[in-house]
Amino acid sequence: MRDIILIGFMGCGKTSVGVRLSYRLRRPVTDTDKEIEREEKRSISDIFAADGEAYFRDKETAYLRRLLRQGGGRIISVGGGLPLREENRALLHELGQVFYLRAGAQTIYERLKYDTTRPLLQGEDPRGKIGKMLAEREACYLDAADVVIDVDGKDFETILGEIEQCAAK
Ligand code: S3P
Repeated sequence: MRDIILIGFMGCGKTSVGVRLSYRLRRPVTDTDKEIEREEKRSISDIFAADGEAYFRDKETAYLRRLLRQGGGRIISVGGGLPLREENRALLHELGQVFYLRAGAQTIYERLKYDTTRPLLQGEDPRGKIGKMLAEREACYLDAADVVIDVDGKDFETILGEIEQCAAK
């Protein structure tokens, strides 16, 4: 069975939707950020600070390759920047059906304005950063996606229902 993969910008709800979907469909769930933190025994912020973003991105690609060697049928939520690498987009397509949880910049800002765990959004003008990064990334997300789910203003139940409806049987 193929995997269901959740992609999208930071704060769009990939991890929370993934866990709920896993209960609902009775499938195992994995999250690339959590897995990398577990393996590295340190937080993403610490990884970025000590070894830089490129090191983290290599870990993401390595984890996707590992997932491909294991069985399918999982729910996989991935870090917001993972689909930016073309190689990763190809790996996602090999793994399964890719759902882009699309959230607007204001929604993301409201959810993450007090967050300290996303190194790329720290510092001055987080709202501006979100808008700029979202615009830069949109093409990659669309290229990676099989299905786009607009999440602004929707509760989990609605989002899960839409995913379930589109999920390949
Ligand atoms: C990142 C998103 C984060 C995490 C890292 C980089 C990004 O994951 O992988 O901070 O580049 O968008 P979430 O999308 O789960 O926040």
